[in-house]
Amino acid sequence: MIDKADQATLYGQHLSEKTHRFQAILGATEFDEIVIAAGDSKIQFADDMAYPFVANPYFREWVPLGKRVGSYLQISLNSDRPRLFLLTVEDIWHTAPQSLPVGFEQGLEIIEYASLDELKKYLSQKQDGTAFIAETNSLNMVQECWNPQAVTDQIDYQRRAKTAYEQDCVRQANRLAVPAHRAAYKAFMAGASELEIAAAYLRGCGCSEHEMPYGIIAGVNEHGAVLHHHNLDKQRRTPRSFLIDAGVAENGYASDITRTYAYDPGSDFAALIEVMDVMQQQLVAGGGIGKSPVDLHVLSHLKVAEVLRQFDVLKVSAEEAFDLGISATFYPHGLGHHLGCNVHDRGSNLANAQGDLLPAPEKYPKLRSGALMVANQIHTVEPGLYFIPALLHRLRQGEFASKINWSRVEDFLPFGGIRIEDNIVVHRDGSLENLTRDAFRDIKQ
Ligand code: GLY
Ligand code: MN
Ligand code: MN
Repeated sequence: MIDKADQATLYGQHLSEKTHRFQAILGATEFDEIVIAAGDSKIQFADDMAYPFVANPYFREWVPLGKRVGSYLQISLNSDRPRLFLLTVEDIWHTAPQSLPVGFEQGLEIIEYASLDELKKYLSQKQDGTAFIAETNSLNMVQECWNPQAVTDQIDYQRRAKTAYEQDCVRQANRLAVPAHRAAYKAFMAGASELEIAAAYLRGCGCSEHEMPYGIIAGVNEHGAVLHHHNLDKQRRTPRSFLIDAGVAENGYASDITRTYAYDPGSDFAALIEVMDVMQQQLVAGGGIGKSPVDLHVLSHLKVAEVLRQFDVLKVSAEEAFDLGISATFYPHGLGHHLGCNVHDRGSNLANAQGDLLPAPEKYPKLRSGALMVANQIHTVEPGLYFIPALLHRLRQGEFASKINWSRVEDFLPFGGIRIEDNIVVHRDGSLENLTRDAFRDIKQ
């Protein structure tokens, strides 16, 4: 396992790699610098309470200070050392702002500032020389300089290939999630409520709810069929099944992990999970440089149809169910997405750095990741099989109702559904690294 000192070295390499990439982006424009604002805290309407602050992913891709309000980063054509501007004002209400991990400051020029007028003196003096990436136009740039798409498209496109540092952050984020997933499973087996399970998860990784890369999804029994079940139940239920989709953030990078469990290891639902688990690993193995996520998605539908046939849910062949689109009732989401600073990393629908979008696949128009896989990408692979009352109702009312064995559907409805999700690095040498399974294997507790 990489310790913090090694991670600081990787971070230094990350800074120089990103600087070169951003200088190449600048070279194709009239701008001579890119300035990224972390963002400012937001006050709720008609209240004096702020929403929890998280710096935007353009900033987090550079600096692991997701909680530090008012920070700016400047990358210039004429300097290989990015400048980090940190807001430093007296504040008697709050504790000291987050600081960089030890050793991370070496590749940066750090400048403390107290007002935006002070900060502006460091910016390009050329008129329209700054491409400013920010949620709000805090530096009062002319419209053409604020989030210029010719720049943001190129940033989103370069993000596909993760540096060794970024890969390590997601690797560590997987490792940190393992004890939390185990604690959640233990709580489920002890009969805890969904909210108690989420509390066990947070204790297991030593994080607060606001530090989660996305809201914990913890569905007991039927709630496993709610794809993003965030509205956690406080009631304890007699446990049958449990789906947990939860990650951890490391330096602003996410893990995104789903596991599904049966309370009774002898049940049909437990057997269904086992078959899905084997199938998920076959889909992982189908990835690699130059492989098409759309082809893998199509294959995953065929495999889900085969599983449905194997468990007697279908009265027709898997091929026929697949051809008729019946598998989509049981599996209504994509096989995966790019992972990084965003859980659903931006840029996965870009055909090129000029911002052209990939055409949506005809049969699966909502697919997020269409581009062929490239080296150093991180993908999730997350096939699912659910018994979702609303979708099943529609199928039962439709022309294909007779192709389903509805008594088998009734058997599985109380168990909700299954999703199994791992995070995979596509390495340059063609190998695939399963960050999630490696972490579960290596971490004994
Ligand atoms: N956790 C959200 C997703 O898997 O896409
Ligand atoms: Mn995911
Ligand atoms: Mn997930």
